[in-house]
Order: sequence, then structure tokens, then C-alpha cells
Amino acid sequence: MASLAEIVRSRTHLKLAHIAHLQRLVASWNLLADFCFSDLLLFVPVDGPGDDGFVVVGHVRPSTSQTLYRHDLLGERTNAAERPLVSSSMRLGSIIEGEITVNVIRERVRVVCIPVRWQGETIAVLSRESTPSVGRSPGELERIYVDIFNRFARMIATGDFPFTVEDSDAKESPRVGDGVVVLDRAACVEYASPNAVSALHRMGVHANAEGMRLGEIGLEDELVRDAFAIAKPVTQELERGEVIVLVRCIPMLDAQGVSGAVVLFRDITEVRRRDRLLLSKDATIREIHHRVKNNLQTISSLLRLQARRTSTEEAKEAIAESVRRISSIALVHETLSREAGEDVPFIEILRPLVRMVEEAVSSPDRELRFAVDGDAGTLPAAIVTPMAVVLTELLQNAVDHAFPEGRDRDADENLVRIELVNDGSELIVRVVDNGVGLPEGFSVDRVNGLGLTIVRALVTSDLRGTIDMFEPPDGTAGTVVELRVLLD
Ligand SMILES: Nc1ncnc2c1ncn2[C@@H]1O[C@H](COP(=O)(O)OP(=O)(O)OP(=O)(O)O)[C@@H](O)[C@H]1O
Ligand SMILES: [Mg+2]
Repeated sequence: MASLAEIVRSRTHLKLAHIAHLQRLVASWNLLADFCFSDLLLFVPVDGPGDDGFVVVGHVRPSTSQTLYRHDLLGERTNAAERPLVSSSMRLGSIIEGEITVNVIRERVRVVCIPVRWQGETIAVLSRESTPSVGRSPGELERIYVDIFNRFARMIATGDFPFTVEDSDAKESPRVGDGVVVLDRAACVEYASPNAVSALHRMGVHANAEGMRLGEIGLEDELVRDAFAIAKPVTQELERGEVIVLVRCIPMLDAQGVSGAVVLFRDITEVRRRDRLLLSKDATIREIHHRVKNNLQTISSLLRLQARRTSTEEAKEAIAESVRRISSIALVHETLSREAGEDVPFIEILRPLVRMVEEAVSSPDRELRFAVDGDAGTLPAAIVTPMAVVLTELLQNAVDHAFPEGRDRDADENLVRIELVNDGSELIVRVVDNGVGLPEGFSVDRVNGLGLTIVRALVTSDLRGTIDMFEPPDGTAGTVVELRVLLD
């Protein structure tokens, strides 16, 4: 569905500053719809010579009452004949009330049309639309709320509302249903809604607030004083023992200045408690990864001690290989202990892994270069851990078998390239070397070396992927190992 900005830009003559004003209005108008228990529609005149049409650029329903319009009216066209009050309000720049028959729902509708003014100019009309109330007298809460709406309506007509500051985080921002306190010109409580009284009780305030300032009944009222002083809304979190309440003070203005304010209260204790729990769960997971890494390092040290006491070369070699395999797993846990979630950017693992293999082979008579092409993006820990072990084996194989000593070739050109492709549904990892190539009659399914046996097991079972080894397709010497893993 088209946005307010798209509709306004394509069908009206309004400028960017106008659009920004309307966007600010729409960002804070849930509050207005709730205070007046009505649907709100925002009309903007459409462009074109002799055109008396309007387009609906915004529609909001009240959460305190029923809606008149079951389908969304955004983008709908209308004209002066259908909507005479919108047209007059636009032309005269004044608030106009009346009753009309709305064709789309074939019903009588009570409307209050409010000109939206920006720097002295009427740029749109906000219309409050409700069912005509027949012989029913409203209760106290309803009367007070509608009165607040009317005060905001006058501010819209003079250009004082919406405020020129960005609205606070709309997702968390308290709603009318959460609890409302109305303050008079002297910042004394005129009215507190039942939900506001409950919120005050939970904060330990049991005194009757009426006629008192919030400071006098034991609340920090700095935000109220700030809001009155700067004539702009102020939001603050108040913490009372176990209870956390989000408080938003919205000043109301008239010709004399700040004429009062509405203060909205929302108990967010539960929301914050869950935030904290998640944070501590995250910290625990990281701590566990850290400990696993430490334990793996301890195991490596024990194996190295053992190797020093063995006399046979073969045993020493076997233990050294185990230490290498364990190190690659430790490396993954170390990275996970630094990351916030269970997903890791794969490059964070790959870089230290390559460095580890690089350091092990570095000797003056064996030049070997490693390069990484492409990006695998962020991968879940369940894929990263086996993938780290697999890559260690493949890099080690390139080091061990691709470039035997005494090979008739310039050593500078010895290269191992890791190619990464991640299209969101499949991960392809290739380890490509330009060495001597695979032995005659080699088949990846039949090798019984420990390295490739581990690789095959991890790729087919843990990663549910495939492995393939072949000569480079461009006919040059060397080996390509290709892994394909489906991501879901
Ligand atoms: N990049 C490569 N270039 C040439 N030959 C390779 C390459 N990778 C593997 N091979 C061949 O595949 C065989 C099996 O490899 P595998 O990793 O299973 O065992 P290994 O490396 O010999 O022993 P281990 O890994 O257990 O120390 C190797 O002996 C080698 O002949
Ligand atoms: Mg090997």
C-alpha cells in the first residue's frame, strides 16, 4: 500500500516541509483518535487546474471505540460535493462541525473538520468522524477526553500541533488506555483516569492526586516542569522499587502559552524485566562458550604434554594433528563468546583459521599464499562449528599434499584460495589450490585417510550437504574441493 509521502508527492502540490509536518501529525495521532473515540481522516487537496478534489492520505482508528470504516480509506478520492465541510474548512482555515452522509458506508456521520496549518498556510484537513450520538449523555471520562481532543484540535488549527520534535519511540510510547492524568495551567492534577490511579498505586502513591502537583504526591516531576518550560513533550522512565513506569507529558498550548498537559502512564515493569532476562541469557551463553574454549585449550595442553613424553615420531605426529583439530573448534567457541547472538559472521572464524594454518606452514623454503574470495555472511553456530573443522582439514590437505617439496615451479605462485558464495538458501565453499592435483584414480567416496573421512562425515551428516573434489575446470593444474550446504 502506498505511503503518505508517496500519495502526497504523486498527487498533490505539497512540498517536503509540508509532508514532514503531516508525517509528524500521523506519527502522534493514535493519541488523538483515542481521546475523541473516533476515526480520523487526513485530506489533502489534489493537484490540477479547476480540480476541487481531495485525496485521503491518512486514516487511523480509535483503540478506545469502534471504527466507522471497516476498510482502509488511504488513497481514496473525494470532492467538494461529497465533502463540503472538508472543502470549507480548507478554504476558510477554520474548524467546522456538521453531519453528512458518507457514500461508501451509506450512513449519517458526524464530522469535525480541522484545518492543518503550517507556517500560516492551511495544507490539509483533519476530519474526526463518528456516529451521531442520539440522546445519550457522555460520562465524565468521555467528556474530559473529548475536551482534550478539542484543545489539540485548536492547536492543529493554529499550527502548534504536531510539535516540531521527533515523537518518542512510538512502539513503547504510552497509549490513552494505559492511564491519563490531566494537568491544569499550574501543573496541578485536574483529573486522573482509573488506569492512571492504578499505575500510581503500583508506584506507591495512594494519596488523592486531585488539585495537587505530581511532586507533592511524591513523584519525580522533573519531566512535567521540563515539558511546561520548553512547551514540548517529554518522556521519562520512572523506577520505584520493582515497578518501572514510562511517563510521557504532552503540554497543551493556547494563546497565553502552556494551558495544561496530559500525562500518560504505562507500566513497563514486565517489558523491562523480559529485556533484562534476555540480556542475562545472552551473557550466560557467551560465558559458556568462553568456558568451553578454555576447557578445549586445557585438553590441547594435556595432549602436548603427552606428545613430549612419547618417543615415536608417528605418535607425536598423530597427537599434533589432534591438537590442530581441537584448536579449530576452540576458535569457533572463542568467536561465539564475543558475539551477541547464536549467529556469527563467518569471516570472523575464517580469518583466524587461515592464520593458524599459515603460521604452522611458514618456513622460508615453503612459500604459500592464502586468499579469501567472496563472503559467506552470517551463519548459525550449528553450521559454523563443523564448517571450521572441515576447512581446517581441507587447508591442511592443500598444505600437506598439493605442494610437495622439490616441485619444478616458482614457489611464489603457490596459492590456496577459499571461495565463498551465500545466496541465502545455499552456501558454497570451495578450497582451490594450484598444486600437483589429485592422485590417479582418486575418488572422494573411497578415500580412507582420517582427514577426508572426518570431512565427509561432518558434511553429509551434521551439515546435510555434499562434497566434491575435482580438477580445476579451466584445465590448469591443481585441485578444487567444493562443499554445498543448504541453509534453512
Ligand atoms: N589438495 C590436495 N591435493 C592433492 N592431493 C590431495 C589433496 N587433498 C587430498 N589429497 C589426497 O587425498 C588423500 C586423503 O586425504 P586425507 O585428508 O583423507 O588424508 P591425509 O591427509 O593423507 O591424512 P590425514 O588428513 O589424516 O593427516 C591424501 O593422502 C592425498 O593423496
Ligand atoms: Mg589430510
